[in-house]
Amino acid sequence: MAAGSGALDGRVAFVTGAARGQGRAHAVRLASEGADIIAIDVCAPVADSITYPPATSDDLAETVRLVEAAGRKVLAREVDIRDLAAQQQVVADGVEQFGRLDIVVANAGVLSWGRIFEMSPEQWDTVVDVNLNGTWRTLRAAVPAMIEAGNGGSIIIVSSSAGLKATPGNAHYAASKHGLVALTNSLALEVGEYGIRVNSIHPYSIDTPMIEPEAMAEVFSKYPSYLHSFAPMPLHPLGEDGTRGLSAFMTPDEVADVVAWLAGDGSATLSGSQIAVDRGVLKY
Ligand SMILES: NC(=O)c1ccc[n+]([C@@H]2O[C@H](COP(=O)([O-])OP(=O)(O)OC[C@H]3O[C@@H](n4cnc5c(N)ncnc54)[C@H](O)[C@@H]3O)[C@@H](O)[C@H]2O)c1
Repeated sequence: MAAGSGALDGRVAFVTGAARGQGRAHAVRLASEGADIIAIDVCAPVADSITYPPATSDDLAETVRLVEAAGRKVLAREVDIRDLAAQQQVVADGVEQFGRLDIVVANAGVLSWGRIFEMSPEQWDTVVDVNLNGTWRTLRAAVPAMIEAGNGGSIIIVSSSAGLKATPGNAHYAASKHGLVALTNSLALEVGEYGIRVNSIHPYSIDTPMIEPEAMAEVFSKYPSYLHSFAPMPLHPLGEDGTRGLSAFMTPDEVADVVAWLAGDGSATLSGSQIAVDRGVLKY
């Protein structure tokens, strides 16, 4: 879908984890297609066991600036997806301001590393509580408003390649992301009668602050056999003419292309699908 097509004119999208990374790219892309945006992010450290830098209030302010520059309205708020009441409030406020809710991108998530039989209970609980329990709270807050609006819609749940395969070294993350597949597919059946579609996406290696090359190098040097589970991404030219070098990562904008397609009517026949965004790597 070409940016600026107006394919989402008049629609309203709720995006979690919108301060930076993929969430920001989704908010800005959906806005450039015509949607007004309800954007939330915790904008703070989530737990001691999450070792990469947290998103900030300035990051969320930049997302606001970019959505407005795309010509759309935005309601942004610092909300933790573990907080159901706060998500219900921001959804209610967004629907009051923008009139409806059509699209949800349940994107907020966290990652850490450790073996199943060595990690702390806090490490397990944080990842599962944000990625799985928090995403359920996002859906619990948003779906009644979508049904109430009565326009159908599209929900995109951001899982991971780790939601489709084993990932030794971060099984708590894999367990949470596999859980999102069950949530996606059960919800697809529950809300189909309201014209609401639900699909999960499964990105692999996106260049965002969540990816800590040093942490991964440490895991792989300690446990070299784990490398088999993390096949290298085929190198791809970054620019259309290949002049900007080759990247082993994908960009948030490339994932936003898929999210915009799933949000719009061009994917009207898809619900309860798992879409790998991986340049084919999961087939190794
Ligand atoms: N980067 C990758 O390679 C990759 C691959 C597969 C899946 N994912 C998933 O993509 C999603 C986006 O991650 P990203 O790569 O953009 O990383 P990121 O760390 O840049 O972005 C995640 C955002 O979610 C926010 N967030 C975290 N916990 C939150 C909470 N409790 N409440 C509200 N907001 C919260 C963070 O503040 C941050 O802004 C995550 O669900 C992640 O698991 C990432």
